[in-house]
Amino acid sequence: MGKKKKRGESEAEWEPLNIERNKEQNDVHLGNGDSQEQKKKKKKKSKEMVKEENVLKEKPTVSIALAGSIVDNTQSLELATRLAGQIARASTIFRIDEVVVFDNIGSSVDSSDPTLEDGSNDDESGAAFLLRILKYMETPQYLRKSLFPMHNNLRYVGSLPPLDAPHHLRKHEWAPYREGVTLKDRNLTSGGTLVDVGLSKPVAIDQVSGPGIRVTVSMGAERSLDADIPHQVVSSSTPREDAGMYWGYKVRYAPNISSVFKNCLYKGGYDHVIGTSEHGIVMKSSDLTLPSFRHLLIAFGGLAGLEECIEEDNNLKGKSAKEVFDLYLNTCPHQGSRTIRTEEAIFISLQYLQEPINSVLQKF
Ligand SMILES: C[S@@+](CC[C@H](N)C(=O)[O-])C[C@H]1O[C@@H](n2cnc3c(N)ncnc32)[C@H](O)[C@@H]1O
Repeated sequence: MGKKKKRGESEAEWEPLNIERNKEQNDVHLGNGDSQEQKKKKKKKSKEMVKEENVLKEKPTVSIALAGSIVDNTQSLELATRLAGQIARASTIFRIDEVVVFDNIGSSVDSSDPTLEDGSNDDESGAAFLLRILKYMETPQYLRKSLFPMHNNLRYVGSLPPLDAPHHLRKHEWAPYREGVTLKDRNLTSGGTLVDVGLSKPVAIDQVSGPGIRVTVSMGAERSLDADIPHQVVSSSTPREDAGMYWGYKVRYAPNISSVFKNCLYKGGYDHVIGTSEHGIVMKSSDLTLPSFRHLLIAFGGLAGLEECIEEDNNLKGKSAKEVFDLYLNTCPHQGSRTIRTEEAIFISLQYLQEPINSVLQKF
């Protein structure tokens, strides 16, 4: 993988639950008096312009990737849970949009989420365990019972400090958006689905959907819980795009480090990738200027670091870390301990990168 190449070819957008977003937003008004052909051309051109504007308007995203093997060194389920909780806290504190947990499988192509395989397997891999706890922690408390079946590895999550993210709203709090879960029941007047958004009563939405689906609901300007006023389901990125709110992180599994890049779910892939290591270059954070990225990825290795992850990946044979990453960075020079653990490096590196990242984000 050459430097500056865009990683990831996938065209899919982050919209796992995709109850369609307001289609009218791309509709454009046409002038009178044009021929049908002219009208069609104008409409096409205007649509393209709106699309382009929307892409330019889209806020850049920040992802982190980390080796799931870090869990394998923990000595008990309590300690593994605490480790996962620290990663969830770091991701939330630093407004991370996506957390990718990768395995070290040489040439596997199976990138399906291991937490969806078997609900009761408590002997799951470190990566599967991390994914499970990260997803659980990101989900607002009032939705957890509906969205997470009982699992032995969730036994100690109750002892973790909560993320207290802006979408983890309490019953009495009002916000322009709320996360909800679709219910079996329908609104008697409109026929639309009812959604539990963690308030005293469910709200109705325009769409009809099966139960148990997580959705983001626009709560509208009026603080009304009148079930006859339908609310709108929006994309989970809308609170972030339209209101600048931090709205949690997505979680993704990758079988190895190369599939972290290759299976990127953002259109166009990651366009700037930073690897972290004690072997990376040393520079002051204030001297670091990041390019104007659209999708930034920051990678963290396991016990033996990112170099081992690259060596073990058949798709990256013969590549060095400096070739795989646009920037290979030591964020904690002159360390007093012989090793900085991954969970510590995540806090240190995200703090180090905060200013350089914010300088890019401020332009949007
Ligand atoms: C136990 S360390 C691995 C040690 C390995 N020698 C290395 O490459 O840094 C686990 C992870 O913590 C992060 N890390 C450790 N020391 C770091 C440093 N000084 N600067 C940036 N990241 C570091 C890296 O992501 C590394 O893969």
